[in-house]
Amino acid sequence: MQIELPSISYVVARSWPDGIIGRDNTLPWRLRSDLQRFKAITLHHVIIMGRRTYVSVGRPLPQRVNIILSRTAKFDDGSSIWEDGETMRIWAEDCESALFFADVMSVAKDQSDVFVIGGAEMYRAFGDLCNKVYLTEVLTGEAIRREPNDTVFEYDLDPRQWRTLESQLLPSGSGDDYPSRFTVLERKAKLVRSIEVDDGPTESQAKKHWLARQFDAFDRARLASPERPIKVAYQYRLFQP
Ligand SMILES: NC(=O)c1ccc[n+]([C@@H]2O[C@H](COP(=O)([O-])OP(=O)(O)OC[C@H]3O[C@@H](n4cnc5c(N)ncnc54)[C@H](OP(=O)(O)O)[C@@H]3O)[C@@H](O)[C@H]2O)c1
Repeated sequence: MQIELPSISYVVARSWPDGIIGRDNTLPWRLRSDLQRFKAITLHHVIIMGRRTYVSVGRPLPQRVNIILSRTAKFDDGSSIWEDGETMRIWAEDCESALFFADVMSVAKDQSDVFVIGGAEMYRAFGDLCNKVYLTEVLTGEAIRREPNDTVFEYDLDPRQWRTLESQLLPSGSGDDYPSRFTVLERKAKLVRSIEVDDGPTESQAKKHWLARQFDAFDRARLASPERPIKVAYQYRLFQP
């Protein structure tokens, strides 16, 4: 019996035409309508982000499982896993571990999508696995031109490999510095990940047993990493060591 693992999507806002996503570890614009859409897309799901993005946001995003990648982090509250109701924060030491937590938490929550929310290092790291991109292009024109230290989104969305599901031009509303274009793109040949589970007479019991084993691995990893981001045993062999 197989359990399908969640599909990976990107959510990103970049300037047009220069493709900037960040400057001085923050967003170089104010776009309230995009923040509202971001919330609607990601709420109740697992989100994966890099440590610099987490620092820039300043807190775990509420009602989401926040997985943060860092090789080096020291936690201000001393714990690699923190939980408060539906909000959770997990520090992960590498992409494999992050994806392991994302899969386990998504299967537990019956969610079929995981969102990588940046920054540029994360979009590069999960590039081969991404099936869908929620792309906001902030139509800054000449007002924001690229500077040497800007962070940019350079992911290749070749139309031979990606189809556009929707695209709309949005005038700037209240709280928006610029108009924008929102596009949803989907990979034509989607990557479907699944795992074999064979213990249990029904699919839901097999899932339950699998989840129980993964939560044990969670606990072991947490105990082994009291002061560092958590690392779990090699799971998927999807990333270069
Ligand atoms: N416009 C948008 O949609 C959007 C979205 C998100 C972010 N941003 C912007 O993007 C900028 C930040 O992006 P960024 O690319 O500089 O940083 P980032 O991707 O947010 O974080 C980079 C950090 O992630 C950790 N990391 C990266 N690869 C890792 C791996 N394989 N294993 C373990 N840890 C890993 C490292 O943390 P350690 O150094 O702790 O080891 C690294 O310094 C900010 O300006 C932010 O505002 C924009």
